[in-house]
Amino acid sequence: MKPATGKLGVLCVGLGAVTTTFITGTLMYRKGLGIPGGSITQMAKIRVGRGEKKAYKKIGEIVPLADVNDMVFGAWDIFTDSAYESAINAEVLKTKDIDPVRDELKAIVPMKAAFDPDYVSRLHGENVKSGTRWELVEALREDIRRFVKENGCERAVVIWAASTEKYIPYDEQVHKHLADLEAAMKADDREHVSPSMCYAYAAIAEGVPFVMGAPNLCLDIPAMWEFAEKQQVPIAGKDFKTGQTLMKTVLAPMLRTRCLGLAGWFSTNILGNRDGEVLDAPENFKTKEVSKLSVINTILRKEDQPDLYSDIYHKVRINYYPPRGDAKEGWDNLDIFGWMGQDYGMQIKVDFLCRDSILAAPLMLDLVICADLAARAGRSGIQTWLSFYLKSPMHDYEKGIEPVHDLFQQYVIFKNAIREMGGVEPDEELD
Ligand SMILES: NC(=O)c1ccc[n+]([C@@H]2O[C@H](COP(=O)([O-])OP(=O)(O)OC[C@H]3O[C@@H](n4cnc5c(N)ncnc54)[C@H](O)[C@@H]3O)[C@@H](O)[C@H]2O)c1
Repeated sequence: MKPATGKLGVLCVGLGAVTTTFITGTLMYRKGLGIPGGSITQMAKIRVGRGEKKAYKKIGEIVPLADVNDMVFGAWDIFTDSAYESAINAEVLKTKDIDPVRDELKAIVPMKAAFDPDYVSRLHGENVKSGTRWELVEALREDIRRFVKENGCERAVVIWAASTEKYIPYDEQVHKHLADLEAAMKADDREHVSPSMCYAYAAIAEGVPFVMGAPNLCLDIPAMWEFAEKQQVPIAGKDFKTGQTLMKTVLAPMLRTRCLGLAGWFSTNILGNRDGEVLDAPENFKTKEVSKLSVINTILRKEDQPDLYSDIYHKVRINYYPPRGDAKEGWDNLDIFGWMGQDYGMQIKVDFLCRDSILAAPLMLDLVICADLAARAGRSGIQTWLSFYLKSPMHDYEKGIEPVHDLFQQYVIFKNAIREMGGVEPDEELD
């Protein structure tokens, strides 16, 4: 394990609601003006050792984590607003929680984005690069190198918290082998190579870990896994697990554990931020829908319990409703059954009044810190231990590996990875 010395460049793709909430909150936290609620790396204690030897330690006491004081923030966006202006416009945090770090935020001015309006039709910004897909990759690589040099960073992480791109299906001709993906980039194949793939490729090429916080196909293709292994770079994705899906991955294991059946699960929500506006476009919502729908089937498996889970009707809706801004409201209705079957059905209703970016910001902090930790520990390729944070965890589907969605199983995997990297024996003891 390499030590966490020197500065860590944190390069965020997209300087919108989630990113500015993350950066502002981190800057406030390091001034002692805010708490990092929801951040496991900053707050959780993990047991190490068993029996009389057991002790509960913060993660930073088990493995060397990057210090928030050593982080230097940068970003790309299609708009020129600084992090300060963007944080104000996002209307997530109150000005009293932004103003104390106003100068630091004003200094974060986004670099020109690699953007294609065909992938996000609702947005129109001027701060964009021009060029073929391959030229975009080269320009992004140059941005990363320059940022690292100018800020004296020892290491960096790139994390995507930009808008969800339109749905593109996996295409074996382009996405399976690295050589084919590179050829497609060089041929400027815009249909199969999304802008997010250019960021991911650029980061990996520079030896920088890449995290995908949206449900974009991007990293989730064998060609990218091959590249990450070749470059010995850790990657993680996709889609931050924040509100409704977090609840799903807690409630579904409860049903399975108690052998209760599920007839249907209807999830709908209203939100009015820019993310909601982008997701209002059917081609962008489709990407999110696929990510959200994948959750239940691997937890409630019809192969294991045909009487309980063979006919689940699962529906997910997102509705753009401007008055709510970032303060999303999500409703879930579960039709469940047990003793004597569906004639005695029951319902569970969840009404989650959440704040999207408040839930996502600590995940950004943890994913940046953990991706950097993985790199220093010599880990490369898909980081399945980070599935804990992700709605649609990447898994090598070519080898038939299934993703783990159950939050508590994911936490066991997460804790054991920390224990292993800290030189402590992994286990599944009860805490
Ligand atoms: N908040 C949550 O709970 C949550 C959960 C899971 C995933 N996400 C995802 O995180 C992402 C960010 O969410 P948000 O609420 O901050 O959205 P936002 O619209 O406020 O911010 C996204 C920013 O990305 C910029 N952008 C778009 N395409 C870009 C590109 N190619 N390069 C650089 N910048 C680009 C936009 O201009 C915008 O400023 C979305 O994809 C969202 O679906 C959010």
